[in-house]
Amino acid sequence: MKVLVIGGGGREHAIVWKIAQSPLLGKLYCVPGNPGMAELAECVSRDLSDLPALAEWAKTEGIDFTVVGPEAHLADGIVDIFEEQGLKIFGPSKAAARLESSKSFAKEVMVAAGVQTAKAEVFTDYALASAYVRKHGAPIVIKADGLAAGKGVTVAMTQEQALAALADCLLDQKFGGSGASVVLEQYLAGREASVMAIIDGDVVQPLAISQDYKRLLDNNEGPNTGGMGAISPTPVVNGIPMETFVDQIFRPTITELKKRGIRYRGFLYAGVMVSPEGYVNVIEFNCRLGDPETEVLLPRLESDLLQHLYAATIGNLGQEELVWSTEAAACVVASSAGYPLAVEDGKEISGIFSEQDNCRVFFAGVREKDGALYSKGGRVLVVSALGKDVLAALDKVYTAMAKISFAGMHYRKDIGS
Ligand code: AMP
Ligand code: GLY
Repeated sequence: MKVLVIGGGGREHAIVWKIAQSPLLGKLYCVPGNPGMAELAECVSRDLSDLPALAEWAKTEGIDFTVVGPEAHLADGIVDIFEEQGLKIFGPSKAAARLESSKSFAKEVMVAAGVQTAKAEVFTDYALASAYVRKHGAPIVIKADGLAAGKGVTVAMTQEQALAALADCLLDQKFGGSGASVVLEQYLAGREASVMAIIDGDVVQPLAISQDYKRLLDNNEGPNTGGMGAISPTPVVNGIPMETFVDQIFRPTITELKKRGIRYRGFLYAGVMVSPEGYVNVIEFNCRLGDPETEVLLPRLESDLLQHLYAATIGNLGQEELVWSTEAAACVVASSAGYPLAVEDGKEISGIFSEQDNCRVFFAGVREKDGALYSKGGRVLVVSALGKDVLAALDKVYTAMAKISFAGMHYRKDIGS
Protein backbone atom coordinates (compact mmCIF):
# COMPACT_ATOMS: atom_id res chain seq x y z
CA MET A 1 0.00 0.00 0.00
CA LYS A 2 1.21 3.53 -0.81
CA VAL A 3 0.50 5.67 2.23
CA LEU A 4 0.61 9.44 2.68
CA VAL A 5 0.86 11.18 6.06
CA ILE A 6 -0.07 14.86 6.18
CA GLY A 7 1.84 17.03 8.67
CA GLY A 8 5.36 17.73 9.84
CA GLY A 9 5.41 17.81 13.64
CA GLY A 10 6.16 15.45 16.51
CA ARG A 11 2.77 13.76 16.30
CA GLU A 12 3.24 13.04 12.61
CA HIS A 13 6.81 11.83 13.15
CA ALA A 14 5.40 9.31 15.65
CA ILE A 15 2.62 8.29 13.23
CA VAL A 16 5.16 7.79 10.45
CA TRP A 17 7.50 5.85 12.74
CA LYS A 18 4.64 3.53 13.65
CA ILE A 19 3.21 3.12 10.14
CA ALA A 20 6.72 2.38 8.82
CA GLN A 21 6.64 -0.86 10.88
CA SER A 22 3.48 -2.14 9.20
CA PRO A 23 3.73 -5.20 6.95
CA LEU A 24 0.93 -3.63 4.87
CA LEU A 25 3.15 -0.72 3.88
CA GLY A 26 4.65 -0.49 0.42
CA LYS A 27 5.85 3.10 0.20
CA LEU A 28 5.40 5.95 2.65
CA TYR A 29 5.14 9.64 1.75
CA CYS A 30 4.81 12.73 3.96
CA VAL A 31 3.67 16.22 3.10
CA PRO A 32 5.60 18.17 4.23
CA GLY A 33 7.33 15.85 6.72
CA ASN A 34 10.50 16.79 8.57
CA PRO A 35 14.14 15.57 8.65
CA GLY A 36 13.25 12.83 11.17
CA MET A 37 10.43 11.56 9.01
CA ALA A 38 12.71 11.73 5.96
CA GLU A 39 14.62 8.73 7.34
CA LEU A 40 11.45 6.65 7.12
CA ALA A 41 9.50 8.15 4.25
CA GLU A 42 9.75 10.33 1.17
CA CYS A 43 9.03 13.93 2.19
CA VAL A 44 7.30 15.91 -0.51
CA SER A 45 6.89 19.66 -0.55
CA ARG A 46 3.35 20.57 -1.69
CA ASP A 47 1.12 23.56 -1.10
CA LEU A 48 -1.17 22.53 1.78
CA SER A 49 -3.38 25.56 1.21
CA ASP A 50 -4.40 24.13 -2.18
CA LEU A 51 -6.13 20.91 -1.15
CA PRO A 52 -7.74 20.14 -4.55
CA ALA A 53 -4.25 20.26 -6.13
CA LEU A 54 -2.91 18.04 -3.36
CA ALA A 55 -5.67 15.49 -4.05
CA GLU A 56 -4.80 15.60 -7.77
CA TRP A 57 -1.17 14.92 -6.92
CA ALA A 58 -2.13 12.03 -4.58
CA LYS A 59 -4.18 10.50 -7.38
CA THR A 60 -1.37 10.82 -9.91
CA GLU A 61 1.09 9.34 -7.44
CA GLY A 62 -1.24 6.38 -6.84
CA ILE A 63 -1.59 6.99 -3.08
CA ASP A 64 -3.85 4.26 -1.66
CA PHE A 65 -4.44 5.73 1.76
CA THR A 66 -3.92 9.06 3.53
CA VAL A 67 -3.71 9.82 7.26
CA VAL A 68 -4.08 13.43 8.41
CA GLY A 69 -2.27 14.74 11.50
CA PRO A 70 -3.12 18.42 12.12
CA GLU A 71 -6.59 19.84 12.72
CA ALA A 72 -6.24 22.80 10.35
CA HIS A 73 -6.43 20.66 7.20
CA LEU A 74 -9.37 18.69 8.61
CA ALA A 75 -11.18 21.95 9.36
CA ASP A 76 -10.40 23.03 5.78
CA GLY A 77 -12.15 19.92 4.45
CA ILE A 78 -9.21 17.78 3.26
CA VAL A 79 -11.22 14.60 3.86
CA ASP A 80 -14.20 15.80 1.80
CA ILE A 81 -11.90 16.91 -1.03
CA PHE A 82 -9.92 13.65 -1.14
CA GLU A 83 -13.08 11.55 -0.98
CA GLU A 84 -14.63 13.51 -3.86
CA GLN A 85 -11.60 12.36 -5.87
CA GLY A 86 -12.24 8.73 -4.84
CA LEU A 87 -9.21 8.68 -2.50
CA LYS A 88 -9.25 6.77 0.79
CA ILE A 89 -8.38 9.01 3.71
CA PHE A 90 -8.65 8.68 7.50
CA GLY A 91 -10.03 11.68 9.37
CA PRO A 92 -13.30 13.50 10.03
CA SER A 93 -15.14 15.48 7.38
CA LYS A 94 -15.19 19.26 7.59
CA ALA A 95 -18.63 19.14 9.24
CA ALA A 96 -17.47 16.60 11.84
CA ALA A 97 -14.21 18.50 12.49
CA ARG A 98 -16.32 21.40 13.80
CA LEU A 99 -16.20 19.56 17.14
CA GLU A 100 -12.73 21.09 17.33
CA SER A 101 -12.92 24.08 14.99
CA SER A 102 -15.89 25.62 16.80
CA LYS A 103 -15.96 25.49 20.58
CA SER A 104 -19.55 26.81 20.59
CA PHE A 105 -20.63 24.00 18.26
CA ALA A 106 -18.86 21.43 20.46
CA LYS A 107 -20.57 22.85 23.52
CA GLU A 108 -23.97 22.76 21.84
CA VAL A 109 -23.46 19.12 20.80
CA MET A 110 -22.30 18.12 24.30
CA VAL A 111 -25.29 19.76 25.95
CA ALA A 112 -27.73 18.16 23.48
CA ALA A 113 -25.99 14.77 23.93
CA GLY A 114 -26.02 14.96 27.72
CA VAL A 115 -22.22 14.85 27.96
CA GLN A 116 -21.02 16.40 31.23
CA THR A 117 -19.24 19.68 30.52
CA ALA A 118 -18.68 23.08 32.13
CA LYS A 119 -21.59 25.54 31.88
CA ALA A 120 -20.93 28.11 29.19
CA GLU A 121 -22.35 31.02 27.21
CA VAL A 122 -21.33 32.39 23.84
CA PHE A 123 -20.80 36.11 23.17
CA THR A 124 -19.83 38.27 20.19
CA ASP A 125 -20.36 41.61 21.91
CA TYR A 126 -17.75 42.98 24.32
CA ALA A 127 -20.23 44.99 26.43
CA LEU A 128 -22.47 41.96 27.01
CA ALA A 129 -19.52 39.62 27.61
CA SER A 130 -17.85 41.95 30.09
CA ALA A 131 -21.16 42.41 31.94
CA TYR A 132 -21.37 38.60 32.23
CA VAL A 133 -17.80 38.46 33.60
CA ARG A 134 -18.58 41.21 36.15
CA LYS A 135 -21.73 39.36 37.22
CA HIS A 136 -20.10 35.92 37.58
CA GLY A 137 -16.61 37.01 38.69
CA ALA A 138 -13.41 34.96 38.55
CA PRO A 139 -12.10 32.35 38.17
CA ILE A 140 -13.63 32.02 34.72
CA VAL A 141 -12.41 30.61 31.41
CA ILE A 142 -12.41 32.61 28.17
CA LYS A 143 -12.15 30.65 24.92
CA ALA A 144 -11.82 32.01 21.40
CA ASP A 145 -14.48 30.06 19.48
CA GLY A 146 -12.34 29.02 16.51
CA LEU A 147 -8.93 27.41 15.98
CA ALA A 148 -6.12 29.35 17.65
CA ALA A 149 -3.21 26.88 17.69
CA GLY A 150 -3.76 26.08 21.37
CA LYS A 151 -3.42 29.75 22.36
CA GLY A 152 -7.05 30.87 22.41
CA VAL A 153 -7.90 29.82 25.98
CA THR A 154 -7.36 31.99 29.07
CA VAL A 155 -7.99 30.53 32.49
CA ALA A 156 -8.57 33.86 34.28
CA MET A 157 -8.03 33.78 38.03
CA THR A 158 -8.99 37.47 38.34
CA GLN A 159 -11.69 39.64 36.76
CA GLU A 160 -9.00 41.89 35.26
CA GLN A 161 -7.40 38.94 33.43
CA ALA A 162 -10.82 37.89 32.17
CA LEU A 163 -11.63 41.38 30.83
CA ALA A 164 -8.20 41.61 29.18
CA ALA A 165 -8.74 38.26 27.44
CA LEU A 166 -12.17 39.41 26.25
CA ALA A 167 -10.65 42.61 24.89
CA ASP A 168 -7.97 40.56 23.07
CA CYS A 169 -10.67 38.55 21.28
CA LEU A 170 -13.56 40.92 20.79
CA LEU A 171 -11.94 44.38 20.61
CA ASP A 172 -8.38 43.80 19.37
CA GLN A 173 -9.12 40.76 17.17
CA LYS A 174 -5.93 39.07 18.38
CA PHE A 175 -7.18 35.75 16.99
CA GLY A 176 -8.86 37.22 13.90
CA GLY A 177 -12.12 35.50 12.97
CA SER A 178 -11.38 32.69 15.46
CA GLY A 179 -11.91 35.12 18.34
CA ALA A 180 -14.87 37.04 16.88
CA SER A 181 -17.03 34.98 19.16
CA VAL A 182 -16.00 33.76 22.61
CA VAL A 183 -17.18 31.02 24.90
CA LEU A 184 -17.26 32.05 28.58
CA GLU A 185 -17.02 28.96 30.67
CA GLN A 186 -17.33 27.99 34.31
CA TYR A 187 -13.90 27.24 35.84
CA LEU A 188 -13.43 23.57 36.74
CA ALA A 189 -10.91 22.45 39.31
CA GLY A 190 -9.28 19.06 39.03
CA ARG A 191 -6.73 17.13 37.05
CA GLU A 192 -6.75 16.63 33.29
CA ALA A 193 -6.46 13.49 31.21
CA SER A 194 -6.56 12.88 27.48
CA VAL A 195 -9.02 10.26 26.29
CA MET A 196 -8.88 9.31 22.62
CA ALA A 197 -10.53 6.83 20.31
CA ILE A 198 -10.57 5.66 16.72
CA ILE A 199 -14.16 6.05 15.54
CA ASP A 200 -16.05 4.98 12.45
CA GLY A 201 -19.79 5.52 12.55
CA ASP A 202 -21.06 3.58 15.55
CA VAL A 203 -17.78 1.72 16.19
CA VAL A 204 -15.53 3.14 18.92
CA GLN A 205 -12.09 1.69 19.59
CA PRO A 206 -10.59 3.54 22.56
CA LEU A 207 -6.86 4.20 22.80
CA ALA A 208 -4.89 3.90 26.03
CA ILE A 209 -5.33 6.74 28.49
CA SER A 210 -2.73 9.51 28.64
CA GLN A 211 -2.06 12.85 30.24
CA ASP A 212 -0.24 15.87 28.93
CA TYR A 213 1.34 18.74 30.83
CA LYS A 214 0.06 21.98 29.32
CA ARG A 215 1.86 24.66 31.31
CA LEU A 216 5.27 25.87 30.16
CA LEU A 217 7.03 25.71 33.54
CA ASP A 218 7.57 23.25 36.37
CA ASN A 219 4.86 23.00 39.06
CA ASN A 220 2.26 23.72 36.36
CA GLU A 221 3.21 27.39 36.26
CA GLY A 222 3.54 29.80 33.34
CA PRO A 223 1.36 30.06 30.25
CA ASN A 224 -0.61 27.26 28.58
CA THR A 225 1.20 25.62 25.68
CA GLY A 226 0.35 22.88 23.20
CA GLY A 227 1.84 20.45 25.76
CA MET A 228 5.32 20.13 27.29
CA GLY A 229 5.30 16.42 28.04
CA ALA A 230 3.03 13.43 28.44
CA ILE A 231 2.66 10.11 30.22
CA SER A 232 0.64 6.98 29.58
CA PRO A 233 -1.03 5.55 31.57
CA THR A 234 -1.94 8.18 34.14
CA PRO A 235 -3.18 7.94 37.74
CA VAL A 236 -5.53 10.91 37.12
CA VAL A 237 -8.38 8.63 36.07
CA ASN A 238 -7.77 6.23 38.93
CA GLY A 239 -10.33 3.50 38.85
CA ILE A 240 -12.47 4.97 36.03
CA PRO A 241 -12.73 2.25 33.37
CA MET A 242 -12.33 3.19 29.70
CA GLU A 243 -15.89 1.94 29.04
CA THR A 244 -17.20 4.81 31.16
CA PHE A 245 -15.57 7.33 28.82
CA VAL A 246 -16.84 5.46 25.78
CA ASP A 247 -20.42 5.27 27.11
CA GLN A 248 -20.63 8.73 28.62
CA ILE A 249 -18.62 10.77 26.12
CA PHE A 250 -17.92 9.17 22.74
CA ARG A 251 -21.18 7.29 22.11
CA PRO A 252 -23.59 10.10 23.01
CA THR A 253 -21.50 12.57 20.98
CA ILE A 254 -21.44 10.51 17.78
CA THR A 255 -25.13 9.71 18.20
CA GLU A 256 -25.94 13.41 18.50
CA LEU A 257 -23.84 14.16 15.40
CA LYS A 258 -25.67 11.41 13.54
CA LYS A 259 -28.99 13.09 14.37
CA ARG A 260 -27.58 16.15 12.63
CA GLY A 261 -26.64 14.12 9.56
CA ILE A 262 -22.92 14.00 10.42
CA ARG A 263 -21.09 10.68 10.45
CA TYR A 264 -17.86 10.71 12.48
CA ARG A 265 -14.86 8.86 11.16
CA GLY A 266 -11.45 9.70 12.57
CA PHE A 267 -9.63 10.11 15.82
CA LEU A 268 -11.66 11.84 18.50
CA TYR A 269 -9.90 13.34 21.50
CA ALA A 270 -11.74 14.37 24.64
CA GLY A 271 -9.80 16.50 27.08
CA VAL A 272 -11.38 15.67 30.44
CA MET A 273 -11.16 17.26 33.85
CA VAL A 274 -11.47 14.83 36.75
CA SER A 275 -12.63 16.65 39.89
CA PRO A 276 -11.21 15.78 43.33
CA GLU A 277 -14.48 13.88 43.95
CA GLY A 278 -14.02 11.86 40.74
CA TYR A 279 -16.56 13.64 38.49
CA VAL A 280 -15.59 13.80 34.83
CA ASN A 281 -16.27 16.85 32.66
CA VAL A 282 -15.24 17.29 29.03
CA ILE A 283 -13.33 20.53 28.55
CA GLU A 284 -12.58 20.18 24.85
CA PHE A 285 -12.88 17.98 21.82
CA ASN A 286 -10.13 17.64 19.25
CA CYS A 287 -10.73 15.89 15.95
CA ARG A 288 -7.19 14.43 15.80
CA LEU A 289 -4.60 12.81 18.00
CA GLY A 290 -3.03 14.88 20.76
CA ASP A 291 0.49 16.22 20.52
CA PRO A 292 2.58 15.21 22.52
CA GLU A 293 0.19 12.44 23.67
CA THR A 294 0.73 10.58 20.37
CA GLU A 295 4.42 10.36 21.17
CA VAL A 296 3.62 8.22 24.24
CA LEU A 297 0.61 6.35 22.86
CA LEU A 298 2.10 4.96 19.67
CA PRO A 299 5.22 3.50 21.32
CA ARG A 300 2.80 1.60 23.60
CA LEU A 301 0.66 0.32 20.72
CA GLU A 302 1.84 -3.18 19.81
CA SER A 303 -0.73 -3.86 17.08
CA ASP A 304 -0.67 -2.40 13.57
CA LEU A 305 -1.81 1.25 13.43
CA LEU A 306 -1.97 1.28 9.63
CA GLN A 307 -4.20 -1.78 9.64
CA HIS A 308 -6.53 -0.25 12.27
CA LEU A 309 -6.89 3.05 10.42
CA TYR A 310 -7.36 1.42 7.03
CA ALA A 311 -9.96 -0.94 8.53
CA ALA A 312 -11.82 2.09 9.93
CA THR A 313 -11.88 3.60 6.46
CA ILE A 314 -13.36 0.53 4.77
CA GLY A 315 -15.96 -0.26 7.45
CA ASN A 316 -14.03 -3.00 9.30
CA LEU A 317 -13.02 -1.19 12.49
CA GLY A 318 -15.23 -3.48 14.59
CA GLN A 319 -12.98 -6.44 13.73
CA GLU A 320 -9.80 -4.74 14.91
CA GLU A 321 -8.14 -5.49 18.21
CA LEU A 322 -5.83 -2.85 19.59
CA VAL A 323 -3.03 -4.37 21.65
CA TRP A 324 -1.19 -2.25 24.22
CA SER A 325 2.15 -2.83 25.88
CA THR A 326 1.99 -3.30 29.62
CA GLU A 327 5.00 -0.98 29.77
CA ALA A 328 4.44 2.71 30.50
CA ALA A 329 5.61 5.58 28.31
CA ALA A 330 6.68 9.14 29.00
CA CYS A 331 7.86 11.99 26.82
CA VAL A 332 9.30 15.45 27.37
CA VAL A 333 9.22 18.34 24.88
CA ALA A 334 12.19 20.65 24.32
CA SER A 335 11.07 24.11 23.23
CA SER A 336 12.70 27.27 21.90
CA ALA A 337 13.35 30.37 24.01
CA GLY A 338 10.26 32.58 23.96
CA TYR A 339 7.71 29.80 23.35
CA PRO A 340 4.68 30.05 23.42
CA LEU A 341 5.04 33.74 22.44
CA ALA A 342 7.64 35.04 19.96
CA VAL A 343 10.21 32.27 19.56
CA GLU A 344 13.91 32.46 18.91
CA ASP A 345 14.61 29.63 16.50
CA GLY A 346 17.20 28.75 13.87
CA LYS A 347 19.56 27.38 16.55
CA GLU A 348 21.81 24.46 15.74
CA ILE A 349 20.86 21.27 17.61
CA SER A 350 23.48 18.83 18.89
CA GLY A 351 23.34 15.51 20.70
CA ILE A 352 20.47 13.94 18.75
CA PHE A 353 20.74 10.15 18.84
CA SER A 354 18.88 7.45 17.02
CA GLU A 355 16.81 4.94 18.92
CA GLN A 356 18.42 3.30 21.96
CA ASP A 357 16.88 1.06 24.64
CA ASN A 358 13.30 1.94 23.61
CA CYS A 359 14.04 5.65 23.87
CA ARG A 360 13.73 7.81 20.75
CA VAL A 361 13.57 11.39 19.53
CA PHE A 362 10.60 12.65 17.54
CA PHE A 363 11.19 15.89 15.64
CA ALA A 364 8.57 18.60 16.12
CA GLY A 365 10.12 21.80 14.74
CA VAL A 366 13.41 20.82 13.13
CA ARG A 367 14.94 21.66 9.77
CA GLU A 368 18.09 20.39 8.15
CA LYS A 369 20.70 22.42 6.30
CA ASP A 370 24.00 21.10 4.95
CA GLY A 371 23.82 18.04 7.18
CA ALA A 372 23.17 20.02 10.39
CA LEU A 373 19.87 20.24 12.32
CA TYR A 374 18.31 23.56 13.39
CA SER A 375 15.31 24.50 15.55
CA LYS A 376 12.25 25.78 13.70
CA GLY A 377 9.31 27.10 15.70
CA GLY A 378 8.24 26.69 19.32
CA ARG A 379 8.22 23.01 20.16
CA VAL A 380 11.42 21.60 18.71
CA LEU A 381 11.75 17.94 19.66
CA VAL A 382 10.24 15.29 21.87
CA VAL A 383 12.19 12.57 23.67
CA SER A 384 9.99 9.55 24.36
CA ALA A 385 10.72 6.27 26.12
CA LEU A 386 9.09 3.08 27.32
CA GLY A 387 9.87 1.68 30.75
CA LYS A 388 8.49 -0.74 33.30
CA ASP A 389 6.64 2.22 34.83
CA VAL A 390 6.37 5.96 34.17
CA LEU A 391 9.33 6.76 36.43
CA ALA A 392 11.59 4.25 34.65
CA ALA A 393 10.52 5.72 31.28
CA LEU A 394 11.20 9.25 32.52
CA ASP A 395 14.62 8.23 33.74
CA LYS A 396 15.57 7.25 30.19
CA VAL A 397 13.99 10.41 28.75
CA TYR A 398 15.85 12.78 31.07
CA THR A 399 19.18 10.96 30.61
CA ALA A 400 18.81 11.32 26.83
CA MET A 401 17.54 14.90 27.01
CA ALA A 402 20.60 15.97 29.02
CA LYS A 403 22.79 15.09 26.01
CA ILE A 404 20.79 17.24 23.56
CA SER A 405 21.33 20.97 23.33
CA PHE A 406 20.56 24.10 21.36
CA ALA A 407 20.75 27.77 22.34
CA GLY A 408 17.76 28.75 24.50
CA MET A 409 16.55 25.15 24.87
CA HIS A 410 13.90 24.73 27.56
CA TYR A 411 12.21 21.66 28.96
CA ARG A 412 10.22 20.82 32.08
CA LYS A 413 12.04 18.80 34.72
CA ASP A 414 8.90 17.59 36.50
CA ILE A 415 6.91 15.66 33.89
CA GLY A 416 5.21 12.72 35.60
CA SER A 417 5.07 14.41 38.99
P1 AMP B 1 -8.90 23.81 25.67
O1 AMP B 1 -8.21 24.29 24.44
O2 AMP B 1 -10.37 24.05 25.70
O3 AMP B 1 -8.50 22.42 26.05
O4 AMP B 1 -8.26 24.63 26.87
C1 AMP B 1 -6.87 24.64 27.12
C2 AMP B 1 -6.61 24.38 28.56
O5 AMP B 1 -7.25 25.37 29.37
C3 AMP B 1 -7.13 23.07 29.08
O6 AMP B 1 -6.29 22.01 28.81
C4 AMP B 1 -7.22 23.35 30.56
O7 AMP B 1 -5.95 23.27 31.17
C5 AMP B 1 -7.69 24.77 30.58
N1 AMP B 1 -9.16 24.82 30.67
C6 AMP B 1 -10.03 24.79 29.62
N2 AMP B 1 -11.31 24.84 30.05
C7 AMP B 1 -11.25 24.90 31.39
C8 AMP B 1 -12.24 24.97 32.43
N3 AMP B 1 -13.55 25.04 32.15
N4 AMP B 1 -11.81 25.01 33.71
C9 AMP B 1 -10.49 24.99 34.01
N5 AMP B 1 -9.51 24.93 33.09
C10 AMP B 1 -9.88 24.89 31.79
N1 GLY C 1 -1.72 18.16 23.84
C1 GLY C 1 -2.99 18.76 23.63
C2 GLY C 1 -3.47 18.73 22.26
O1 GLY C 1 -2.96 18.07 21.40
O2 GLY C 1 -4.46 19.41 21.99
